[in-house]
Amino acid sequence: MAETNGGNPHIGRLVVVGIGLIGGSLALALKAASACREVIGVARRQKTCEQAVALGIVDRAVTDLGEILPQLEPGDVVFVAVPTLAVERVFADLRGRLPAGVTVTDGASVKGSVVAAAEKVWGEVPEFLVPGHPIAGSEKSGVTAARDDLYIAHRVILTPLENTAAGHLQRVVRMWQDSGAEVLNMPVREHDEVLAATSHLPHVIAFGLVDTLAHDGANENIFRYAAGGFRDFTRIASSDPVMWRDIMIANRDAVLKSIDLYSANLGALRAAIAAGDSDQLMGVFTRAKAARDHFTKMLAKKAYTEPMQAQEVTFIAQPGGSVSGELRVPGDKSMSHRSIMLGSLAEGVTEIEGFLEGEDALATLQAFRDMGVVIEGPVDGRVTVHGVGLHGLQAPPGPLYVGNSGTAMRLFAGLLAGQAFDVTLTGDESLSKRPMNRVANPLREMGAEIETGPEGRPPLLLKGGARLHGIDYRLPMASAQVKSCVLLAGLYADGETSTTEPAPTRDHTERMLAGFGYEVQRDGPRATLRGGGRLSGGRIDVPADISSATFFMVAAAIAPGSDLLLQHVGINPTRDGVINILRLMGADIELLNRREVGGEPVADIRVRHAPLKGIRIPEAQVPLAIDEFPALFVAAACADGETVLTGAEELRVKESDRIQAMADGLEVLGVDAEPTPDGIVIRGTGQGPAFGGGTVDSLGDHRIAMAFAVASLRARDTIRILHCANVATSFPNFAELATKAGLKLQQA
Ligand code: S3P
Repeated sequence: MAETNGGNPHIGRLVVVGIGLIGGSLALALKAASACREVIGVARRQKTCEQAVALGIVDRAVTDLGEILPQLEPGDVVFVAVPTLAVERVFADLRGRLPAGVTVTDGASVKGSVVAAAEKVWGEVPEFLVPGHPIAGSEKSGVTAARDDLYIAHRVILTPLENTAAGHLQRVVRMWQDSGAEVLNMPVREHDEVLAATSHLPHVIAFGLVDTLAHDGANENIFRYAAGGFRDFTRIASSDPVMWRDIMIANRDAVLKSIDLYSANLGALRAAIAAGDSDQLMGVFTRAKAARDHFTKMLAKKAYTEPMQAQEVTFIAQPGGSVSGELRVPGDKSMSHRSIMLGSLAEGVTEIEGFLEGEDALATLQAFRDMGVVIEGPVDGRVTVHGVGLHGLQAPPGPLYVGNSGTAMRLFAGLLAGQAFDVTLTGDESLSKRPMNRVANPLREMGAEIETGPEGRPPLLLKGGARLHGIDYRLPMASAQVKSCVLLAGLYADGETSTTEPAPTRDHTERMLAGFGYEVQRDGPRATLRGGGRLSGGRIDVPADISSATFFMVAAAIAPGSDLLLQHVGINPTRDGVINILRLMGADIELLNRREVGGEPVADIRVRHAPLKGIRIPEAQVPLAIDEFPALFVAAACADGETVLTGAEELRVKESDRIQAMADGLEVLGVDAEPTPDGIVIRGTGQGPAFGGGTVDSLGDHRIAMAFAVASLRARDTIRILHCANVATSFPNFAELATKAGLKLQQA
């Protein structure tokens, strides 16, 4: 039901010419919202008039528009809701008889023909005409199909012209808003082209398909056996034939263009089927599936690839509790990105298991689809990548949007710097603030042509056709992303490329390259490879992400009574800083069933509650635990005594400034925490509640959000955590698993 507007109608009378689904539904919605003084219906048939009055759709109805025109006053609106080609006749009835100040609008599906009709009748488009189109049709039609909620949360496109008066436009905008619709403006031509592709073409195909089958004698039983596919695909073929005939004729040129495009695509599919070309078919089908799934998410307003309004998620964590049981957290984010990247650049097929279906890794997957790689899945963490070889990527149709993911942007910069085509990399608001010169500079040294946004921030524009040469790069900061970027560019460079890091950082790129059969020489802090080789696809088992497991390790460490087993966690020695640091603090952590899976060490991790003590965190552990500090700060707040972190300035350029964001939140919760330029000093409470309650802001940083959720286990009061939607970037089922383990966490 549309909202009322306080008994102060935006329009006077509404005259609905044509009382079918479209006109009748507007009448009902405005009546329900008390958004006009009176609704008068105009229909050609007396019976329709009587029905419309009897159903309460209109207050009164007439068969002759001319009869009521003299009664109209400024502020009234005439809504022409007749089939497209009948609009001209209604305009002709209005000519010379419409009192001044009355607004005319319409609901026809083709705007070019409405404008042409107006020009024909009045010589020009009159200032009181506001062409419009509610995108809320249904295959149902007629007066009995009208509903007062048809337009709620649907779009109405208005196509005002230069000559359209602002007052009339405003009145029509308000009228539609009062019906519950979202109103937008568009030029006439653009409207007709968009609608030809998204609505008129599907209708032509649906009508055509049903007709083809209905006429085929051999298929006389077809309707008896037709199941879901036929039913879903052809629902719109039971729409009003007159209306759709009109639309096709009225929007001829744009419809023809869409039909031609589709015919060419169908022809290519036919050829692929004839030739048994499985790759071509998989390419089209997987791209289409991804696009349709994206559209489904858009409809549910939870898309990952679109910079659309992010959904607001707030965590509400009740105090107390403990964690226990066995869980497996999602797949490792770093390895998931790399598995798609190397799988795409490999020759042959790569089968991935345990892939993280979080927004960051999905953005990488989508980017490769945009560059022509056929990727099946993910389904339950399984992905099949049909590699195209190092030189098989195609130019994407537009910028590659990598969302919140710094890893995706920096690694892509490396592997795309040596391609033949130009490419632009963009990201969300947080990523757009992060430094990219750390990758742009070494890539330029290698001969790449790269433009960044102001101050070295995204977007990144990589010029195609650059000839790269190997460099010997000494990293100024301990960063696996920078190291990986340079090594990936090295695949395309002449000669040898080496990186030397100031401290060990995660080495998944080096390990996975080796797993794909690409030789990487490693000598302490130095990694070297030679360009021009090839990768061969294979199997990858992605273990659970130790960075995600961290939240539960800290939860079990701080909450009395906890005993938790985390299954199949990657414990690569370049990632195990969190285990070392927690153990130094006194945590009870056991690594069980240690094994090696696909070149990566894995274990089940058992954590039981034990009292923690404050420590000075060894600087050598910092790069090995770089993503784990938000959670470690929570552990520090629960420990007895002071914990001091230094040498961690990198934390200031993560998804948020994690030192400041955590210090601010800890302060709200009553913890004594003092940020320093490269770390923090936290004075923990030892026994009992370590946190008060209150509202903290995660600043859209997934790890800050999850860290404060864990803090609730040792809080005195409820903790509300704002801006948590990005938890889905690395840990889409966090709230569910946390609740299962014992946290009292709700999402709002
Ligand atoms: C990552 C490296 C780290 C880490 C990030 C993932 C990677 O960043 O913080 O979450 O997958 O290479 P830096 O290399 O910038 O430290």
